[in-house]
Amino acid sequence: MIIVSDTRELIVLGKGEDPDTNHSGNPTFQSIVDRRYSRREVLQGGIGLAVAAGFWGGANSALAAFGSVSPRGPAGSAPTLAFDPVAITRADQVTVPAGYTASAFIPWGTPIVAPFPAYQDGGLNSGADQEAQIGMHHDGMYYFPLFHGPRGNRQGLLCINHEYIQPNTIHANGPTLENGVRTIADEVRKEVAAHGVTVVEIQATARGEWDVVRGRYNRRITAGTPMEITGPVRGNDLVKTLYSPDGTATRGTVNNCAYGSTPWGTYLTCEENWAGYFVNDGAQPREHSRYGVSTSANHSRYFWHTVAGTDEYVRFNATPTGGSAIEDYRNEPNSYGWVVEIDPFDPTSTPKKHTALGRFGHEGAWLAPALQGQPLVCYMGDDANNEYIYKYVSKQRYFRSTAGSELLDDGTLYVARFNDDGSGDWLALDINDPAFLAAAAGVEFKDQADVLVNARLAADVVGATRMDRPEWGTVHPKTREVYMTLTNNTRRAADAVNAANPRGPNPYGHIIRWREEDNRSSATRFQWDIFVLAGPESDSRQLDGAALDSSNIFASPDGLWIDQFGTLWIQTDMSGSQLNSGPFGNNQMLVANPQTGDIQRFFVGPVGCEVTGVVSTPDGKTLFVNIQHPGEQGAVPDGAQYSSSWPDGGSARPRAATVIVTKDDGGVVGL
Ligand code: FEO
Ligand code: CA
Ligand code: CA
Ligand code: CA
Repeated sequence: MIIVSDTRELIVLGKGEDPDTNHSGNPTFQSIVDRRYSRREVLQGGIGLAVAAGFWGGANSALAAFGSVSPRGPAGSAPTLAFDPVAITRADQVTVPAGYTASAFIPWGTPIVAPFPAYQDGGLNSGADQEAQIGMHHDGMYYFPLFHGPRGNRQGLLCINHEYIQPNTIHANGPTLENGVRTIADEVRKEVAAHGVTVVEIQATARGEWDVVRGRYNRRITAGTPMEITGPVRGNDLVKTLYSPDGTATRGTVNNCAYGSTPWGTYLTCEENWAGYFVNDGAQPREHSRYGVSTSANHSRYFWHTVAGTDEYVRFNATPTGGSAIEDYRNEPNSYGWVVEIDPFDPTSTPKKHTALGRFGHEGAWLAPALQGQPLVCYMGDDANNEYIYKYVSKQRYFRSTAGSELLDDGTLYVARFNDDGSGDWLALDINDPAFLAAAAGVEFKDQADVLVNARLAADVVGATRMDRPEWGTVHPKTREVYMTLTNNTRRAADAVNAANPRGPNPYGHIIRWREEDNRSSATRFQWDIFVLAGPESDSRQLDGAALDSSNIFASPDGLWIDQFGTLWIQTDMSGSQLNSGPFGNNQMLVANPQTGDIQRFFVGPVGCEVTGVVSTPDGKTLFVNIQHPGEQGAVPDGAQYSSSWPDGGSARPRAATVIVTKDDGGVVGL
């Protein structure tokens, strides 16, 4: 039986947004009376000019080097945007430039593991089926070639995040909820299994068409898969539970958004809006309240905790019920909010939650290219309004022959402060650092594990800069400069802008970039500027100071990747009225030249989708792009039409899928 009002609530909660929980009053720079740049000055190029003079202008040694050391290798040059830009459209299809072909691949429900249950339209597959099929809502992704050399361009492992689910689409008649209780356990089993990560082997035929290989690497990691807790929080009281009384293990990963990859061949998946899966209607500790764990037992995203008698599901209720932490799941939310490492080449391996990288709403984990004998460096964003940008620097140095996951277990976590003069500082969140202890005076942290579990609070106390929802980052493979999307921030007040977040409110978002001091990724100081202020022609600015135009207007930048040729890919995640009636059409993907700032629209997705996740084969000739939640707006359980039927067409339900883009002349995609 469907209780419509509760079902509607599920729909709303299913969108996976984090509540605003940063009440720290941290540097929004309200207190800086002589604020250097007003919004108007920014739009007139004030910041661009001011910052360029000291950063991207004369002293631009890294970019100069980039220009002479070709990013395309011996015969190459910088990206030239040599394609006709795609026009804005609301067509229910993928649109790419003339000379390119796009085709849908491995949509939600594709069988990859024995017994290979076929996908059934109409939400008819069971929970057991879903455990052997590709998950829902594809997001960040990475391609691991299975061979060195040319064969690696035709056969590899694709790791795909499945961020969340659409309850109305996944079940035949939407989710069953009776008096606030999920009464059909198999529905929850299916939802749990549709989350997490897919590892799937794929291979190109001689004609260049890709197929799933039903091989030994294929694996589904879900919201129920056993995981190990590593790093400083391992064994700490804060992660001891009924399931793991010694605090070394947990189950599952959820809201896996963006990704990372390591030089030793593993995949990093990142837990973003995990707090909404939990409830705690008791007195919440700070490690719950600062992250937005629901205070009502009747208000979690999918009500998994209400499946009575099933330990795997009731653990999402963190309300204390036992005499101590090892008798209930009061600490279960503390085992979420981490960067999780998966070895795609070992299907029996246990994923690791790396606590040294801090606990927050992790969008992704982007490693700077590893340098022999230098620390390993990883950049991360916390995607919620007014949250922060972080960096991890390993204590041990990287040596190619011995590098492994222990490099992610011992290091220093920093948070970024973007100063209004174009400089920036990385502030250590380290209980042994006198500056941190001084800043934290009056706020007690018991040990470094407490700092890491409460990373947002630690960042609050050191005075990090509150950002406009940090989404994806990417590190330029040659210049080591870092780019990060700040997708939007409707909550930034006009009097709370700062130079790095110059619009209040900021409905359109922007892309910020920085270069570390001496071009050393482990440095504690950096210089930054704004690469582009997204928006319509009336409210945007490119690197050269000009507004965006019809060939490149976009909003809510999210996915970001600088590929092996130096091409910057920008993906958008507009929603609501911005998506449905704004000047931007459907969500899209653009190509940019990081040196010149030129941007052109390359790809437009189907109706209601988000375009997110992009990676290519090593030769750049096969580009994989993910389409998430097509037809999201129309997904109602009462027989109404979905707003999209992509990719199957006709009356089929929409499905998230990967899109394969190739150039008809066999060349590198985007060049
Ligand atoms: Fe899952 Fe921040 O997007
Ligand atoms: Ca995202
Ligand atoms: Ca987004
Ligand atoms: Ca989204």
